[in-house]
Amino acid sequence: MIPKRAIYKPPFVKFLDQRLLPNKIFYVKTKNARQTAKAIKDMVLRGAPLIGCAAAYGYAIDLRFQKPRSWNKLLKQTKGAADILKKSRPTALALFYAVDRLHKKTLSFINERKTRPFDLKFYAKLIKIVENEAHKITQEDINSTIAMSNYGSKLLKKNSVVITHCNAGSLATMGMGTAVGVITAAHKKGKIKYAYASETRPYFQGSRLTAWELLREKVPCALICDNMAAHIIKTCKVNAIIVGADRIAANGDTANKIGTYSLAILAKYHKIPFFVAAPIPTIDLNLKTGKEIEIEERGEKEVIFIKTKRIAPKGIKVRHPAFDITPASLITAIITEKGIIKPVNSKNILTNFKK
Ligand code: MRU
Repeated sequence: MIPKRAIYKPPFVKFLDQRLLPNKIFYVKTKNARQTAKAIKDMVLRGAPLIGCAAAYGYAIDLRFQKPRSWNKLLKQTKGAADILKKSRPTALALFYAVDRLHKKTLSFINERKTRPFDLKFYAKLIKIVENEAHKITQEDINSTIAMSNYGSKLLKKNSVVITHCNAGSLATMGMGTAVGVITAAHKKGKIKYAYASETRPYFQGSRLTAWELLREKVPCALICDNMAAHIIKTCKVNAIIVGADRIAANGDTANKIGTYSLAILAKYHKIPFFVAAPIPTIDLNLKTGKEIEIEERGEKEVIFIKTKRIAPKGIKVRHPAFDITPASLITAIITEKGIIKPVNSKNILTNFKK
């Protein structure tokens, strides 16, 4: 079993520190929105669905300690918490989905009662409502990973040799993962001959996290460097690529970890299917195409240093886009908790979304 990624236990939320994996199991505690946003930004936890659950718990724990004395104060403090959390990372839609969902609960609670004088009993009631909603978001995430794994494992053929990129496993969700969940479910059905995890420079989510998860699930697997993918596809009979997603535009263009787009091009060239597994809160119907998705640009240190070791000369300029956009035309199917979207186009995405 993968250790719990987030534990809501007031006065704290505890997050498994993924920066230390696979070498050390250690939890970072946060007690408000600011600390939770910092944990998200600093990659204590990561992966789109988990970021959403973490932000929900960050909003809830913050509310507990706001101790407002008026409706106005409550409104101001909860809006402040929502804003801080939403500024932590820009690309994963799950974060915005979770925070907006909780803040909407707060707003309708206030609107229904604001003609009456503020009372601490109301505040206690709101805390319960918000905490329940945060737990609900987490439970929905767990349930979707099970559903996606089911649908996705049916999609994979017997003797599958797959590549996955970044970490779209249990560590990226509160459940069994998206892309890696599909691989482990297919493995349990005896369909996985071999799985390759690409190391995922510069943050090594593949080597540190996915490799660790695949080994624990006893999936026959090997770790490759990102630049080995084409050769491995050509020489090792890779017959599917499966990844997660951080945000999917209405037309199916998909933002995922930097390097995903190159793998999709390789899949097209080698005529193998390219699958994306992602829950519904990843789909952004407000954005027509991937061009509108904001790509997070992270700091240069993560590229120049490996842990504390400098690996590039002082003074070198660095680019560090953390995600890229894979056009819908390169995606064979999107696996959601509501079923398979194939072919990937606006119409099919909308139908799946509304199911
Ligand atoms: O920067 P990260 O580690 O948060 O990026 C994570 C990814 O890109 C994952 O592939 C994505 O969130 C899908 S997770 C189920």
